[in-house]
Amino acid sequence: MTDLDLYLEQHGGRFEEELCHLLRIASVSTDGLHGAELREAAQWIARQLQDVGLATELIETAGNPVVYAESPAVAGAPTALIYGHYDVQPPEPLEEWLSPPFEPTRRDGNLFARGTSDDKGQLYTHLKAAEAWMRVRGGLPLQLKFLIEGEEEVGSSSVSQLIVQDPQRFACDVVVISDSTQFAPGQPAITYGLRGIAYFELKLAGPKHDLHSGSFGGAVTNPANCVARMMASLVDECGRVQIPGFYDDVAPLTDRERGQFAALQHDETLFLQQVGVDGATGEEGFTALERRWARPTCDINGLYGGYQGEGAKTVLPARAGAKFSFRLVPHQDPAKIGSALRTKLEALCPPGIQMELIAMHTGSPVLVPLDSPYLTAASRAIQHGFGCPPVFTREGGSIPIVTLFREKLGADSLLLGWGQEDDNAHAPNEKFNLADFHRGIRASAHLWNELQHARP
Ligand code: BES
Ligand code: MN
Ligand code: MN
Repeated sequence: MTDLDLYLEQHGGRFEEELCHLLRIASVSTDGLHGAELREAAQWIARQLQDVGLATELIETAGNPVVYAESPAVAGAPTALIYGHYDVQPPEPLEEWLSPPFEPTRRDGNLFARGTSDDKGQLYTHLKAAEAWMRVRGGLPLQLKFLIEGEEEVGSSSVSQLIVQDPQRFACDVVVISDSTQFAPGQPAITYGLRGIAYFELKLAGPKHDLHSGSFGGAVTNPANCVARMMASLVDECGRVQIPGFYDDVAPLTDRERGQFAALQHDETLFLQQVGVDGATGEEGFTALERRWARPTCDINGLYGGYQGEGAKTVLPARAGAKFSFRLVPHQDPAKIGSALRTKLEALCPPGIQMELIAMHTGSPVLVPLDSPYLTAASRAIQHGFGCPPVFTREGGSIPIVTLFREKLGADSLLLGWGQEDDNAHAPNEKFNLADFHRGIRASAHLWNELQHARP
C-alpha cells in the first residue's frame, strides 16, 4: 500500500460526509427553477478545490456558473483536464423514492440520492485524489485542470462557449471523465464509444380551442390523432427508423468488434429481468449490446395532448405534441438527421394543423482511439484501484462535449465510469456503490502517477 492509499483509507469516512453535503443541494438544471441551488453547488465545489490548494475560479456564464481550477504545469509531464457536471436531473416521480432524493441515505453499501452516480459522486473521486496528492506529496505529478459545469443535462451550451472563446485556457493532452458505468459489478470498464443525440419537440396546433368531439369530430383534424400518426411513422415495430437516408452514414459493426462484444459476459435474459420486462423488440440480427451501443434509435421521451385526468372526457384537443430523440452512432451527423426529419414531418402534416418542430439539443457520437498510451496508463490505474483490469466497452448514453474537446483542444477523452448500470441514473432511487466510490478515488490517485510518464 502506498502513502496515498493510506491517506485515502484514513480519510474515506470524511470524503463520504463531504459528498453527502454536495448531494443535499438540489442542483436541478432541467426546469430553470433551481438557479440558487445550482450556484450553491458550484460555489461549494469551488471552495473544495480552493482548499485542496488549486488556483480556482467560478466563471460566470449566461447560464449556470462553471467551476475551473488548475495546478501548476509540470515540465515533461502532460496536462490532464478533468471534466464533470454538478447539475442533476429532476427527481420526479417523488413518491417512488424510498428515501428523499436530496437526503443522502446509506442502504446495503450504497449511497442513495439524486446525483450520487450522475455525476456528483463520480466527479468527486477526482477531487479527493488530487487532495491526497497535495496533502501527502505536497503537489501533483502532472498539471490538472478541473472543468466542472452545471448544464450537462441540458446540452452544455455555456461551457461549450467558454471553450470555443478561449481554447488556450483549457489546453490539455488528455481529458478524464467519470460519468459513465462499469460493465458489471466487479468488472470495471473503459468506455471507448458513446452514442450521439438529436433531441426535438413537435408541437401541433389545431382548432383555436378544445372542441366537443361529438359535435366536431370527423370534420376537424385532431392534433392528438396527428401526433400519434406522425410519431408512429418515424420508426417501425422493430425500432428501424423510417426517415429517408437515416442509415446512410451509419458505420457498420465490424466482425472484430462484434466478436469483442460477444466475448463480454452479457446475459440478455438477466438484463431484461433487471429492467422488469418479459421480452423485447429490436432491430433484427443484432444482440442487445449491439443495439444499445452501436445502433441508432428513435424514442419518444414524452407525449401530450388531450384529457389526462380521471374518467372519460369527450374532447377534441386544440393542441398536442411530443418530445423525442434519436441516439446516433458514428458517422451520423445530427444536423443532417434534423433536416431529413423536418422534410418527412412537414410532408405528413395535414390541413388544419400548424406544426412547429423545435430542435432542442444535439451531440455527435464518439469513438476514441484504443491505441493511446493514456489508455494504457488508465488501465493500470484501474487495476490498482479496483483489483482487476478493465474491459473495453461502448455505451449508449451521450456526453456531447467530448466531441468539442477533440475539435477545439485536440484531446481525446478517457471515459472512466465508476458507476453501475443499475444505479438508476435519471430515475427514482439513484444510487452509487460506496465501495466503487472509494475504488474510484484510489484509481484516480494512481492515474495521476501513471499519466505523468505517458507520452503519445
Ligand atoms: N452521464 C450521462 C451520459 C451517459 C449515460 C454516459 C450512460 C454513459 C452511459 C449524462 O449525464 C447524460 O445523461 N447525458 C444525456 C445527454 C444530454 C445532451 C442531455 C443523455 O445521454 O441523455
Ligand atoms: Mn452525467
Ligand atoms: Mn445524466
